[in-house]
Amino acid sequence: MLENEASLSWFERATRVIPGGVSSPARSFRAVGGDPPVVMARGFGPYFEDVDGQVYIDYLAAFGPLILGHAHPEVVAQTRGYIERGTVWGTPAVKEIELAETLVGDIRGLDQVRFTSTGTEAVMSAIRLARAFTGRSLVVKFEGAYHGHSDGMLVKAGSGASTVGTQDSLGVPPGVVNDVVSLPYNDVTILEDTLAKIGDQVACILAEPIVGNMGIVPPRPGYLERMKELAHDAGSLLIFDEVITAYRFHYGSAASWLGVIPDLYALGKAIGGGLPQGAYGGRHDVMQYVSPLGGMFQAGTLAGNPLSAVAGLATLDVLRQENPYERMDRLATVLAENILDIARNFGHAVSINRVGSAFTVFFQEGAVYDYDDAKKSDATLFAKFHRLMLEQGIYLAPSRFEAWFISAAHSARDIDRTLEACRKSFRQLKPN
Ligand SMILES: Cc1ncc(COP(=O)(O)O)c(C=O)c1O
Repeated sequence: MLENEASLSWFERATRVIPGGVSSPARSFRAVGGDPPVVMARGFGPYFEDVDGQVYIDYLAAFGPLILGHAHPEVVAQTRGYIERGTVWGTPAVKEIELAETLVGDIRGLDQVRFTSTGTEAVMSAIRLARAFTGRSLVVKFEGAYHGHSDGMLVKAGSGASTVGTQDSLGVPPGVVNDVVSLPYNDVTILEDTLAKIGDQVACILAEPIVGNMGIVPPRPGYLERMKELAHDAGSLLIFDEVITAYRFHYGSAASWLGVIPDLYALGKAIGGGLPQGAYGGRHDVMQYVSPLGGMFQAGTLAGNPLSAVAGLATLDVLRQENPYERMDRLATVLAENILDIARNFGHAVSINRVGSAFTVFFQEGAVYDYDDAKKSDATLFAKFHRLMLEQGIYLAPSRFEAWFISAAHSARDIDRTLEACRKSFRQLKPN
């Protein structure tokens, strides 16, 4: 059981002044049974410590950014050294320019880049730019993907696979759904049929090259190549949302790793090293439409601020110099393969999608290629598993549709401890 008196008391205070007690709904535990979430006091390396002094191994990684773990000494030293110069200037800044140069050097097809403060703004702005460039309105995106909380991105698939979508949130104006088509991921035929019908109105196809938000779902072989071909045949742009995937699987974008380069990228998370950061960019000719060069307006008081840039640069420096990817991949492989064995030994139907250092345990037997597959993952079993792991000091994202992220800070010992907790959890877990 958790010793959580202080946590409960803090969370009770939170619920009085913050809706649901959380600054982002994904942090709540509503999807895993509705217990109050744990209130944390600090993070260090691969660990969290809560306000009651309990330590957890962290596989949330703040939903992605913490690829080096918490408070990496280099990120701390660099940001501490820089904060005395001020945190936001409202002028061009050396570190912002250096980070832009680094990203442009690292990411194929990123000729120019514009900073934002969040991934939401990065995606929203990339879409606006695609619309400005093509003079068209329609966005094709994929069901189960999450691209931030701008109005247009809170649209899910309608009743027919290739019809316009329906709102996924109250407060999204009904007209917005007319401009967004949401399709099942990994289905070439539906994509081809849709583009054949409405391709001449499509401004962009927007996709995560490896989906992170219905659990980790890799593309089927050839799917992204065909997506790019179809986008270009229709005269529209391909946008890759690499807010999670850039620098996660290797040093650079997932696009270069997979060999399919989009026209535009949306970036975020890791490139801010744990501070607020987003960015979008891509083809030089397209980026000329961005204000003040062109007529596509997009701005931000805190965008490109030097402190976020310093944290991002420090993170990318460590990743480049230490190249932890193979090691992270090995740890993730050991963890995922053993979880699968343990679960099956205790008679649980489980499948795992793993790409490099990120994976999702689905509480169902079949392979997961799209959102319909992912939704078969048993919510009640996952909720019980989540609780059992939490009580043993393992912090997993509180949703069956999220990833376990291995960071460069995790060690073989952390993996062993996690597997021990998995053994106990699966032993206690009763199938529904
Ligand atoms: C793929 C993807 N795109 C965009 C976003 C939105 O980023 P932010 O939360 O920084 O606004 C997220 C956030 O989880 C994401 O996973």
